[in-house]
Amino acid sequence: METLLKLGQHVTGLDNFSTGFQYNLDQVEAAVGKEKWKNFRFIQGDIREAYVCAGACRGQDFVLHQAALGSVPRSVEDPLLTNENNITGFLNMLVRAKGAQVKRFVYAASSSTYGDHPGLPKQEDTIGKPLSP
Ligand SMILES: NC(=O)c1ccc[n+]([C@@H]2O[C@H](COP(=O)([O-])OP(=O)(O)OC[C@H]3O[C@@H](n4cnc5c(N)ncnc54)[C@H](O)[C@@H]3O)[C@@H](O)[C@H]2O)c1
Repeated sequence: METLLKLGQHVTGLDNFSTGFQYNLDQVEAAVGKEKWKNFRFIQGDIREAYVCAGACRGQDFVLHQAALGSVPRSVEDPLLTNENNITGFLNMLVRAKGAQVKRFVYAASSSTYGDHPGLPKQEDTIGKPLSP
């Protein structure tokens, strides 16, 4: 986001601050300066709400999806909450990004997806048994 703003791009951010912090945005504002910060639009909202995802995706060329509720222990303790954020929320973003006809959707996944497979380097078509939700 900081790099994009420095390059003069228009950026929309979406976060519900469940594990994120306003001061991270404040740091980016300080780094890019007042003029370029005008190209940033922030939506405080939740990807579990499809209409929020639709609003964030509307008019965008690219979606960089980084929102997730981390922590393997939490996913074991409260699998429904993790599923709502990381599966339903992710799917909401995919569907709404497609609806908005964005050019590309880039997302951060987790090496947890490789489960107990010992092979290195990790390859997307070689997945073991899952070790966590
Ligand atoms: N940091 C790592 O080591 C690591 C490892 C594997 C995968 N990842 C992935 O990289 C991405 C970014 O991770 P990070 O380390 O920067 O985590 P982070 O917790 O710092 O950032 C995730 C952000 O998503 C927001 N968020 C969570 N649920 C949301 C929701 N329902 N709606 C809107 N916003 C929501 C949080 O408030 C937070 O700001 C995630 O997809 C994560 O799974 C990170």
